[in-house]
Amino acid sequence: MALIKRNPTTTKSWKELTKHFSEMKSFSLKKAFQNTNRKNDLTIKFNEFEFDYSKNLISKKTIGLLTNLANECELKDAISKQFSGKKINETENRAVLHTALRNFSKAPIVLDGKDVMPEIKNSLTKIQNFSQAVISGTQKGFTGKAFTDVVNIGIGGSDLGPKMVVESLQFYKNHLNTHFISNIDGDYVQEVLKKINPETTLFVIVSKTFTTQETLTNATTIQQWFLNNGATKKDIKYNFVAVSTNLKKVKDFGIDKNNIFTMWNWVGGRFSLWSAVGLSISLSIGFPNFEQLLLGAYEMDTHFKETSFEKNIPVIAALLSIWYNNFYLSETEVILPYSQYLENLPPFLQQLSMESNGKSIDRAGKKIKYQTGNIIWGSTGTNMQHAFMQLIHQGTKLIPVEFIGFKKSLYKNKEHHQKLMANYHAQSDALAYGKTKDTVHLELKTSGKMDNINSLLPFKIFEGNKPSTSILIKNLNPKNLGMLIAYYEQKTFTQGIIWNIYSFDQFGVELGKELASKMLKTC
Ligand code: F6P
Repeated sequence: MALIKRNPTTTKSWKELTKHFSEMKSFSLKKAFQNTNRKNDLTIKFNEFEFDYSKNLISKKTIGLLTNLANECELKDAISKQFSGKKINETENRAVLHTALRNFSKAPIVLDGKDVMPEIKNSLTKIQNFSQAVISGTQKGFTGKAFTDVVNIGIGGSDLGPKMVVESLQFYKNHLNTHFISNIDGDYVQEVLKKINPETTLFVIVSKTFTTQETLTNATTIQQWFLNNGATKKDIKYNFVAVSTNLKKVKDFGIDKNNIFTMWNWVGGRFSLWSAVGLSISLSIGFPNFEQLLLGAYEMDTHFKETSFEKNIPVIAALLSIWYNNFYLSETEVILPYSQYLENLPPFLQQLSMESNGKSIDRAGKKIKYQTGNIIWGSTGTNMQHAFMQLIHQGTKLIPVEFIGFKKSLYKNKEHHQKLMANYHAQSDALAYGKTKDTVHLELKTSGKMDNINSLLPFKIFEGNKPSTSILIKNLNPKNLGMLIAYYEQKTFTQGIIWNIYSFDQFGVELGKELASKMLKTC
């Protein structure tokens, strides 16, 4: 069931946006906020989210033209096809059904004539039972001891999602310590092995294909370490489980068939943490919290599916990205979570966004002549204020910013959280309004720096008019994190639909793998 193949730059909206862009050259955020309703008009509230996009270089007309573009690119049709299991991943002839993994409605989702929901429910039940058994200590290691540690062995989507969620939700974790091994760097593998006891460690090998060189090498090394530390081959079934679509290769590796958690080829690696790829999440925070994560994603999915585009959080975010990427030609966007828990969110989003939309051939197979996937980067606030914010405030590049903040801290520490959030709000104000020459002059004058006031002046001016979006969430819990991740997935999906690309394959990573294995043969 094909997606339309429409070059967005040939649409009427694109032509109108191009004209509108030149009208917006003199746009001033400071002036725009003389309209005291602006913040309210350009904030979307949904559940415990407040999505404030008022500090963007947009007018209501901009949003109208951008939503027209979404309509001309038949976004609504694409959304409906994706959720209903149509094979929109045409280059791999697959459906794109990570959304089915968190489908809390009673509606079936039919793929190739078969409802996929029963097998998804079976998988969730297996995850639930296994997690409960390991956490309660009824499921033990090969010497009969309860587990104390979990090691997730995977890379890309088999690592970044689970790792980001486990670290983000550590407030909710149980006694199990979770470690993540992804890089083939053997020294790092040794550093993890130094920290764990083979008797009380559960190894979770995660690989959709079970052919990824890094994961298989790491898993083999770790299995050998396990056997060198008191275990025999028959003990593997106590301490090793695997998550994969490739059951034959998993069994060949020596994993007991009862210890295999299946996943499906219609779930992309970077969209897979909602499946058994998220087993380490369920082990770390318990299945009930894992289910809350899924529920949050489901609620964002429902918002995305059912809300008109001008009130649709992922759609507005995607359109803003396109506005800067394709009209201002800003090539990156920076994600700044004001929560140290979310330290691993930017790396996760890099794979989600850049592996999905880093494409230059359109859905008709033609070379693209406009910009597509932008560069995603970021760090946590307030740390980045002491790292790269100088460039964003006073550099020569336009870098749209996405702030994420939480109204409440988890440990209820008032002083720290007030300071953290004061910085969160101050940064977007500073970017938007800057500091004028007159203000700087007055400050220098009152500070008595009269002798070099004029020479100093230019260096202390802040242009302002730098765009940002602020996502303010009540607090960091599993459900709100699920919503946040699904927001980014749907933003990424929307961008790809409008850019007329296929966001669900990743042929670009194959050449490197081929060359690496050729080189290995010559070593
Ligand atoms: O980066 C390429 C890629 O195929 C990702 O899409 C995927 O998440 C990762 O490698 C790991 O793949 P697998 O889960 O099959 O080991």
